[in-house]
Amino acid sequence: MTNSGGRSIPATTLGTVEPLILGLESTCDETGVALVRGTELLADVVASSMDEHARFGGIVPEVASRAHLEAVVPTIEEALRRADATLADVDGIAVASGPGLVGSLTVGVSAAKALSLALGKPLYGVNHVIGHAAVDELVHGEMPARTMALVVSGGHTSLLLVNDIATDVVELGHTLDDAAGEAFDKVGRLLGLPYPGGPHVDRLAREGDPGAIPFPRALTSAKAMQSHAYDFSFSGLKTAVARWLEAREEAGEEIPVADVAASFAAAVADVLVAKTIAACRAHDVDTLVIGGGFSANSQLRELATERCAQAGIDVRIPPIKYCTDNGAMIAALGSAAARRGVAPSGLGIGVDSSMPLSTITV
Ligand code: KG4
Ligand code: ZN
Repeated sequence: MTNSGGRSIPATTLGTVEPLILGLESTCDETGVALVRGTELLADVVASSMDEHARFGGIVPEVASRAHLEAVVPTIEEALRRADATLADVDGIAVASGPGLVGSLTVGVSAAKALSLALGKPLYGVNHVIGHAAVDELVHGEMPARTMALVVSGGHTSLLLVNDIATDVVELGHTLDDAAGEAFDKVGRLLGLPYPGGPHVDRLAREGDPGAIPFPRALTSAKAMQSHAYDFSFSGLKTAVARWLEAREEAGEEIPVADVAASFAAAVADVLVAKTIAACRAHDVDTLVIGGGFSANSQLRELATERCAQAGIDVRIPPIKYCTDNGAMIAALGSAAARRGVAPSGLGIGVDSSMPLSTITV
């Protein structure tokens, strides 16, 4: 590593403006490969095995691993083709080395190590969850020095204070049980909707009355705010929906499905947005990035946009295709790490299915 003009550039890339980073994502059911130079996205290709899991009502890890094995090489080739690049042009390889499914992670990390070894280029093992925030730099440019990030998906719900996306991220809080998307999927199942239920509940909710049923807002009491100000809990809310439905069914009453969906969605969005804005205020932050597959949720988007406007907070939500799992988020974080001169990972890195948010790069 050498320093030039305050910006560190890996020795292997001296002479180029910004390193060309190939990002590889394989933490769950998407095989994603992207090419990023600086904060410019040159190609982003995603192969998903979701259709193979739908009939099981959840991700089957072994099926996902096998699908990654089949998809990884063609997806790399397609990304290079779309970027009009060859492997020889690549200056560094970034891979999500956790958190995620062990078998799925292993396929991506093995492929990334093979590329790094064969090309003689640095390898960056990066945190998938932080990648969900980093991807916003490809859309809205580099983040201000202090940014709040809410990462919400089927597997994660975390509130992050981002002092520097590649070197200094502090987790302020997370869900104590279900992730927001997971809660939507479970309520989708209760309402008899197909898996994954999240988008279906969202659609139904748009037709219902969000004030019809006063579902609970967990961890928002004055007492809970003392110990869990920025933590979330959605499992009790899901149970409250189940109990409400059971009571109506036992009484033989018709279920107002859209009102149930709308009231549930309002409870999730309300807690997410209220705690996030409180965190922005407490930490004197005026930029908020929302990432992760659940940021597709229209109730969350609307409420965040409305309340952040009132609070003077600039909300940045990347387009949905960059919010679901993809290679661009990993390439974005790898690129940020390379630009700052973060030391690459050795070829000896493993996968970490429960990688903590204190790890940005390994
Ligand atoms: O980030 P993602 O693609 O995968 C994970 O890492 O989990 O997020 C998918 C999750 C699923 O739980 C899905 O049901 C939920 O996000 N989701 C939604 C919507 N779109 C996706 N939930 C509610 N409303 C949506 N529009
Ligand atoms: Zn994810």
